[in-house]
Amino acid sequence: MLTRLVASFLLLGAVQASANCDAIPTSLWCSNKDIESQCGFTELCNKHRAASHNQKINITVLIEALCPDCQNFLTKQLYPVVFKNFADYVNIELVPFGNAKIQEDGTIKCQHGEEECSINKFEGCFIDSMADQSPLPTLACIEESLQKKVEFADAVQQCFEKLQIGGDIQRLTQSCLVSKLGADLQTKAAATTNNVWPEQHKFVPWIVINGVSLTSLQAFQNQLPTLLCEWYSGDKAIPFCEAALKLKYKNASVRHFF
Ligand SMILES: *[C@@H]1O[C@H](CO)[C@@H](O)[C@H](O)[C@H]1NC(C)=O
Ligand SMILES: *[C@@H]1O[C@H](CO)[C@@H](O)[C@H](O)[C@H]1NC(C)=O
Repeated sequence: MLTRLVASFLLLGAVQASANCDAIPTSLWCSNKDIESQCGFTELCNKHRAASHNQKINITVLIEALCPDCQNFLTKQLYPVVFKNFADYVNIELVPFGNAKIQEDGTIKCQHGEEECSINKFEGCFIDSMADQSPLPTLACIEESLQKKVEFADAVQQCFEKLQIGGDIQRLTQSCLVSKLGADLQTKAAATTNNVWPEQHKFVPWIVINGVSLTSLQAFQNQLPTLLCEWYSGDKAIPFCEAALKLKYKNASVRHFF
């Protein structure tokens, strides 16, 4: 009797585990050791962790200077939400080319005209001149001014001043603009844009995460904090994610067992 009871418990356990495994959302496969071992994910999950633990998440953003959605994304999401809360956990790469096209004669045609081409080029030069400093705060400042119809030259001057961009960086950017480097950087940005994998960009802004470009991912452009909290794995949790969880706990009706 007892053995039959134990046996049926074991059977139940096994049936339940395998039934659940097939239906567990793939993003949860490596979220818990019991799931991993019961469902046979352990080896792959360990491999994934070895490659990603304590590694920053790369966010590549395809943009163009005068597209309103790009401006909104930069000024309302990428800089104030992602950069400010996740700077230590992400690498943000901006690729200013977007839907521009290199024509047969080698010139570039931009979606929003000549001015966009010259601002794209400026942004490419500025990004390059900043080297290992993030260009994002300055470019978000400039794009915000452009949204408010401030003249480009004035926007640059005001934002350089506001963000204390030194004379050396300003000179580097200027000399890039008038030299072959400026054009080369646009050619490089075009190649990066056109070679995203496995799915080509269909609109801008367009995000690529750790080298993966998917149309389905674009639906989450404004939910990057949720995704980053889920994807990042490190010795220490991201403070923003911990705080969000704590706030959630505090507000929720928590079950008290004891
Ligand atoms: C992120 O980008 C850096 C620099 O390009 C690269 O070395 C690293 O392998 C990338 N990480 C991932 C997970 O793609
Ligand atoms: C928790 O409650 C506070 C105050 O009632 C509210 O401002 C906040 O938005 C809530 N947070 C969440 C995550 O529900």
